[in-house]
Amino acid sequence: MEKKKVIIDCDPGIDDSLAIILALKSPELEVRGITIVSGNVHGNKGAENALKILKSINRLDVPVYVGKTEPLKRQLVTAEDTHGEDGLGETQYPTVEETRYRTGAVEFILNAIKKEEISIIALGPLTNIATAMQEDNEVFSKVKEIVFMGGAFKSFGNCSPVAEFNFWVDPDAAKYVLNNAKVPLTMVGLDVTREIVLTPNYIEMLKQFNNQLSKLIVDITRFYVNFHWKQEKTLGCVINDPLAVAYLLDNSLCEGKSYYVDVVIEGQAIGMSMVDEGNFLRKKPNCKVLTETDANRFFYKFFNTLFPEFKEDIEIVLSDKRYSY
Ligand code: BDR
Ligand code: CA
Repeated sequence: MEKKKVIIDCDPGIDDSLAIILALKSPELEVRGITIVSGNVHGNKGAENALKILKSINRLDVPVYVGKTEPLKRQLVTAEDTHGEDGLGETQYPTVEETRYRTGAVEFILNAIKKEEISIIALGPLTNIATAMQEDNEVFSKVKEIVFMGGAFKSFGNCSPVAEFNFWVDPDAAKYVLNNAKVPLTMVGLDVTREIVLTPNYIEMLKQFNNQLSKLIVDITRFYVNFHWKQEKTLGCVINDPLAVAYLLDNSLCEGKSYYVDVVIEGQAIGMSMVDEGNFLRKKPNCKVLTETDANRFFYKFFNTLFPEFKEDIEIVLSDKRYSY
């Protein structure tokens, strides 16, 4: 089986970290590099976090590059309230000394595209991606596809009544990518990611697994779980970003349709993704918008990929209706 070559552009971030782990544990993927953008935390902190996660799964061989640390036109707003002061749920893991992150994420992305067929999984604000396109859209058009977590169609926002965080932090970048990309785009927005709740039952299962990786997940999600309780009385936490990785691996996990999507870049609705379902704007569809997913199937894939040694336990927990929320 030929592996899909991917670059993960992200802002780790708790759910970004889970997405990185899922990608690196997936035998179908070859992760060429992790590029960092400012979002949940400043890019430099995000890069440190990527290294911490890579170290915890023994994959410091994967290079980390920091890219744009400010949105295209606006001032950066980060989300330490959601992800903790350190961006990893206040776990305060020590800085990785063995290897350091590099700079030049945008150059890295463009050079990688010149060499081979690359798919991009984008899990933060689209600043690095928009900048790569602005620098050389000819080269960028060779990208196989971009699957990005961002935006919302019929679901409400998580930063304002209508805006999703990644689009809200850099609406200009999201707008630029949507209107200028010559490559297939898939929007993994809040309509589908809100379904992906790491429930208290799943967290208990991870506690029972009691190994290094399960402990890491329990640790970094604790703060996120508290945030969800305070914010919306959700038990557990919504883990948005890993769904984008899982969808790239298995398109049957989500359903959707292609529409023209644009982004509001000023005013009260700033950061809102406008999906032209009624074709009022008479524009060609530019993005596949995912609207349905099967959370249970996602979690089968997620847990089985991360913990193949617990396949039977996972089957018992995930197939038992009494344990489903
Ligand atoms: C997105 O915003 C961030 O908090 C998460 O990492 C995810 O990428 C969800 O709106
Ligand atoms: Ca993210």
